[in-house]
Amino acid sequence: MMGKTQEIMCGIVGYVGKRQAKGILVEGLKRLEYRGYDSAGLAILQNGALKLEKQTGRVANLEGELDKRAFNGNIGISHTRWATHGKVSQSNAHPHVSSDGKIALVHNGVIENFTSIKKFLLSKGYSFESETDTEVLCNLVAYHYAKQPEVDGQSRFAESVRRTLFHVEGTYGIAVLSTDCPDEMVCARKGSPLIIGVGVGENIVASDATAFASRTQNVVYLNDGEVAHVTSDDFNILTISNESVDPIVSQLDWSGEEADLGDFAYFMEKEIFEQPSALENAMRGRFSEDDSTTKFGGLNVSPQEFRQMDRLLFCACGTAWHACLVAEYLIEKYARIPVEVEYASEFRYRNAPLDKNTVVFVISQSGETLDTLAALREAQRKGYRALAINNVVGSTIARESDGGIYQHAGPEIGVASTKAFTSQLLISAMLALYLGRLNDMSYGDGRRFVEALKAVPELVALNLKVNSQVEAIAKAYAQYDDFLFLGRQEMFPIALEGALKLKEISYIHAEGYPAAEMKHGPIALISELCPSVFIIAKGEVFQKTIANMQEIKARHGKIICIAPEGAEFPDGLIDDLILYPDCHEAVAPLLACIPLQLLSYYIARERGCDVDKPRNLAKSVTVE
Ligand code: G6P
Repeated sequence: MMGKTQEIMCGIVGYVGKRQAKGILVEGLKRLEYRGYDSAGLAILQNGALKLEKQTGRVANLEGELDKRAFNGNIGISHTRWATHGKVSQSNAHPHVSSDGKIALVHNGVIENFTSIKKFLLSKGYSFESETDTEVLCNLVAYHYAKQPEVDGQSRFAESVRRTLFHVEGTYGIAVLSTDCPDEMVCARKGSPLIIGVGVGENIVASDATAFASRTQNVVYLNDGEVAHVTSDDFNILTISNESVDPIVSQLDWSGEEADLGDFAYFMEKEIFEQPSALENAMRGRFSEDDSTTKFGGLNVSPQEFRQMDRLLFCACGTAWHACLVAEYLIEKYARIPVEVEYASEFRYRNAPLDKNTVVFVISQSGETLDTLAALREAQRKGYRALAINNVVGSTIARESDGGIYQHAGPEIGVASTKAFTSQLLISAMLALYLGRLNDMSYGDGRRFVEALKAVPELVALNLKVNSQVEAIAKAYAQYDDFLFLGRQEMFPIALEGALKLKEISYIHAEGYPAAEMKHGPIALISELCPSVFIIAKGEVFQKTIANMQEIKARHGKIICIAPEGAEFPDGLIDDLILYPDCHEAVAPLLACIPLQLLSYYIARERGCDVDKPRNLAKSVTVE
């Protein structure tokens, strides 16, 4: 295996201004820790000299070390890392410094041609302390800086970064410092997000606005292939091919406080309880005046154009892929339009033949997941209209899609997606209604649908009151090591999601299955040691699902059942019953999901797991 380290995700924060950089960088890193938490590091220019500290583990470890000595300076860069290749070590942590000691650099992404660049740099006398592609990039900046002449009106430093990137293949978000230019920071992006937070007398760059939202609401999203030269009072942007760019300053639509924990123990818990307002925000301004359908300002597709299409393709990864599966059920049921669902990572390489009137939707909370972005680009390359359902305003997917629907769920920090998922389900139902009304759904059915959607935030608030019941159930089941999650029809994706939530935060083996398929394999797992969680809706398969439960009970399996209020079961069949409020069928998957989120959350806490930062995971995955 090559020794290079790849940064799957990582968080970058850089500061230049009049204040002490250290505290601002550490605070930003803590807010970005959900992006990676294998190691963290920071470099500050103190009177023109680089001061560097790196630690393995959490940002708190770094902070502890920083407190031991003076770290003064008004300009600095920092990084929190999530490694895929290469061990977690201090030498592999960022920032990296060039062998001439002049350049410090933090990087998120993968430099693909680093081996040939390294060979070249070795021949020029540069040396390396780590095996990382980032150290190679850093030394290449130093090389270009050394041979770059001074030109009036131009930053020699920014120009050397631009020239460096001209020779680089791969993906990057970078922030760079030079000891020769103690008032300047240079940053750039290709494939990994980077945002400038524009302040008064100070500027902050970060991978995600969460890092600085409490300080400024004015942001500039760098585009792929752009290099920014940033000082405390100004910034200029050029493309790598040396064209100047007119920056667009946008406003964040959320404040820094939303990214704070408040009284909650974990972000996941906070985000579960924020769902009523997140769902309210997903609907705001999106109903027709007569309340018989929905409307979406940003879709950029006319009703006439929608009528021309005869197929939809939904692509996503992880939890968002489960939202796609629910969208498939809802749209096929209410709009009678065929829907296909693909993993984005499969679609991008599958070269699938698509019907010529297909419209592609991608769903992504972060809007930065690389496979989802690649699926979007592949669909667009083939000439298809590609739309996005996305939470993070200004994300790469939001900007590159041909139109879309923002979720407006507010920042989601917990690695396990909760409020973003239910908001994706609600938007899927709203889309099903919109498309249904373009087809055969009547005015009256549309009105009833809208009424049902509007009731959701209140029903979810009611639903959250099962928390102490679920907490007690979680205590009773936390020691089991295997679980099955079973559901039929639109509850099947919820079973998948319930299993994913449990395994990702509590490391318990859990499988989601269509309830009836269980007898074709998973039933072999059933014993008193493997409980099953059934997720049930009203409707035609209700009785069939009871038959599936009986098959489990006959094999001594314990049963937790999540069912709508009013559902009746044979005596002694269910060990623990959790009810969700009776509701319209289109929103039942969303409501059934709430007790599952609570169950996985409380089980993970019971097992002493770090709920917000589960091992080996990252919030959004920006490499393949
Ligand atoms: C990662 C996260 C999941 C998320 C998936 C897709 O695997 O851990 O929670 O569902 O990425 O992320 P996206 O931002 O595209 O929805």
